[in-house]
Amino acid sequence: ALRRVSSPSASSHLLRRSYCVESKPERKVAVLGAAGGIGQPLALLMKLNPLVSSLSLYDIAGTPGVAADVSHINTRSQVAGYMGDDQLGQALEGADLVIIPAGVPRKPGMTRDDLFNINAGIVKSLCTAIAKYCPNALVNMISNPVNSTVPIAAEVFKKAGTYDEKKLFGVTTLDVVRAKTFYAGKAKVPVAEANVPVVGGHAGITILPLFSQATPKSNNLSDEDIVALTKRTQDGGTEVVEAKAGKGSATLSMAYAGAVFADACLKGLNGVPDVVECSFVQSTIVPDLPYFASKVKLGKNGVEEVLGLGPLSDYEKQGLESLKHELKASIEKGIKFATQS
Ligand code: NAI
Repeated sequence: ALRRVSSPSASSHLLRRSYCVESKPERKVAVLGAAGGIGQPLALLMKLNPLVSSLSLYDIAGTPGVAADVSHINTRSQVAGYMGDDQLGQALEGADLVIIPAGVPRKPGMTRDDLFNINAGIVKSLCTAIAKYCPNALVNMISNPVNSTVPIAAEVFKKAGTYDEKKLFGVTTLDVVRAKTFYAGKAKVPVAEANVPVVGGHAGITILPLFSQATPKSNNLSDEDIVALTKRTQDGGTEVVEAKAGKGSATLSMAYAGAVFADACLKGLNGVPDVVECSFVQSTIVPDLPYFASKVKLGKNGVEEVLGLGPLSDYEKQGLESLKHELKASIEKGIKFATQS
């Protein structure tokens, strides 16, 4: 609610500021896995976001320290740390947005699917709690393999009777962040202006960057350049896993990407018009693939519109054909796990 400014002598500057600050609605954001490699810098970045009024940090261990640390930053949100199963309900109660970077990351030589056995169970139990304690929250799924954990979450919510396809998002923003960086470097365009849609899924060849739609347009990229940019975007995660040599996967760039996507979701909830980000969501744009990443318009209820793919180059059409089999199998694996266990 807007606070009435009673003093007529308040300067117009103060008046404006007061309206600006106070017209932001209360928003509770919960981070599950907040003490992890992604969770900690993500907690920091969400603490810097003025759209957040309450920041809830949950993990199975270590959250009191992370919460105490982050809470000293002089920004809007109130921070609370929660630890262990019996505090999960409190952590989630009243959340508008739940971000999930809980679970094990890759080591060199592993695919995202190798994480399935551990992370599927973690995601299932966290989503069961979300259905119970904050069934209306938007959910941003970071835990890998995203191509399977999003379908798992959907099935858990369906079983609980709380599923709303507009509110479940697989976070693929890091693929977009990488595509923008690599494209800008190669095409020699300003990186801050670069835009590249990335569609499909979030693993290996299912990551399909659409450089034919990249802006600002560049005429100095050869077909070989496009192939190399595509591969680098698809293997970006592996590049980091190998460089970290057993100490985990992307955490800092992922936290940045997660914060960008969460901010877009909050803007959508707050009614900011024309908020568009790529995300892995329930979709009908590619037959036989019930979940698919593409540009999504975000609004007051989450997904407002799943946008189409736009015109694809022949190379991208081929890429789309080749990803279908793997993506379908990963989706089905998630559904099977959630419905049979
Ligand atoms: P990490 O091991 O550093 O942190 C994971 C955290 O999750 C730990 O603090 C752990 O205690 C916590 N955790 C485990 N079980 C939990 C439970 N039941 N409830 C709450 N918290 C729990 O791992 P990191 O590097 O932060 O990665 C997390 C996940 O994010 C991995 O699955 C990784 O593959 C994924 N990831 C996704 C990306 C994407 O683009 N979507 C990019 C990079 C990583």
